[in-house]
Amino acid sequence: MQKIIITGGAGFIGSHVVRRFVKTYPNYNIINLDKLTYAGNLENLRDIENEPNYRFIKGDIVDLEFINSLFDNEKPDAVIHLAAESHVDRSISSPLEFVMTNVVGTVNLLNAARESWKGRYDQTRFYHVSTDEVYGTLGEDGMFTEETAYDPHSPYSASKASSDHFVRAYQDTYGMDVVISNCSNNYGSFHFPEKLIPLAINNIKQRKPVPVYGKGENIRDWLWVEDHARAIDVIFHNAKAGQTYNIGGHNEWKNIDLINLLCTILDKKLGREAGESAKLITYVTDRAGHDLRYAIDASKLKTELGWVPSITFEEGLEKTVDWYLANEEWLANVTSGNYQQYYKGQYNNR
Ligand SMILES: NC(=O)c1ccc[n+]([C@@H]2O[C@H](COP(=O)([O-])OP(=O)(O)OC[C@H]3O[C@@H](n4cnc5c(N)ncnc54)[C@H](O)[C@@H]3O)[C@@H](O)[C@H]2O)c1
Repeated sequence: MQKIIITGGAGFIGSHVVRRFVKTYPNYNIINLDKLTYAGNLENLRDIENEPNYRFIKGDIVDLEFINSLFDNEKPDAVIHLAAESHVDRSISSPLEFVMTNVVGTVNLLNAARESWKGRYDQTRFYHVSTDEVYGTLGEDGMFTEETAYDPHSPYSASKASSDHFVRAYQDTYGMDVVISNCSNNYGSFHFPEKLIPLAINNIKQRKPVPVYGKGENIRDWLWVEDHARAIDVIFHNAKAGQTYNIGGHNEWKNIDLINLLCTILDKKLGREAGESAKLITYVTDRAGHDLRYAIDASKLKTELGWVPSITFEEGLEKTVDWYLANEEWLANVTSGNYQQYYKGQYNNR
């Protein structure tokens, strides 16, 4: 019997990880710890919320007293830590929130785990979910490996880099069992529509302008979120203590090519003339410090633990578009309120 606290389980990736663990391991107790910020949405987990091995606890990882009492009361065996402020644009306007949640929140969890797990570090595990953005940016060639030096450029990636260093320090200093994975950009269902792919799908559907930063030349390496959740499962169960794994799909796309592909898929699905949706593309002022290219070398994960992506990008994108078209109520609930205000502030600089 394992009791696992999954932080950030009401978010995009966290909800897929929670669902996977609840469904795959009925003998585990899964606790979803989430503050429910604008990005946390319990509707993401409607289908499993009544499972006997699942519980939701609302709480803030920045609140040290709360975190300590949670560990005292629950006595978990492991933490899979995804809670974070995750949107680069927001980190540019409010960097301190990113330091609090991503750095202080992570150290609070590490500290509580260090106290709670004393004497049984070999039977416990702290799994920290991080991003490839800690490595900075690539030129036209090369890929990030686990040995690439950290070189973050945004307040978001700097805060994630800092949290990665703290996690490693707790292994080196106290002998805790930690693992880290650094993943490329995810896409799929339940993605908050401030991020590129769901934003584009939503706007194309509603015939609103589709904002593209700069000339759309930035390159990202896209991975289907359910493949990320499966990689986390494989690493959590099989990695040796102290290991880091890069996770990625060998799937690089220029933003503008990706948006054009989405336009083509949606033209077909919505019965529009070819090229109609692409007319909605609107170039906006580039993001400050925008990294040009990310590409992940995930060969360590493939060679050592046998993980490879399960579907192609074209299949995954088609599934994702279908999901957004079929889940209008979810989208409507998310896009009301706070999000609308934020959206105006962010993209009204055209
Ligand atoms: N989205 C990606 O493409 C991507 C890629 C690689 C790594 N990651 C990492 O994966 C993790 C999850 O990313 P995501 O895209 O699902 O993020 P998300 O923004 O969708 O979800 C984050 C979740 O954390 C919760 N949260 C935020 N602050 C909290 C706090 N102080 N206490 C408790 N809960 C809090 C939110 O309510 C939300 O449910 C993050 O750590 C992110 O850095 C994301």
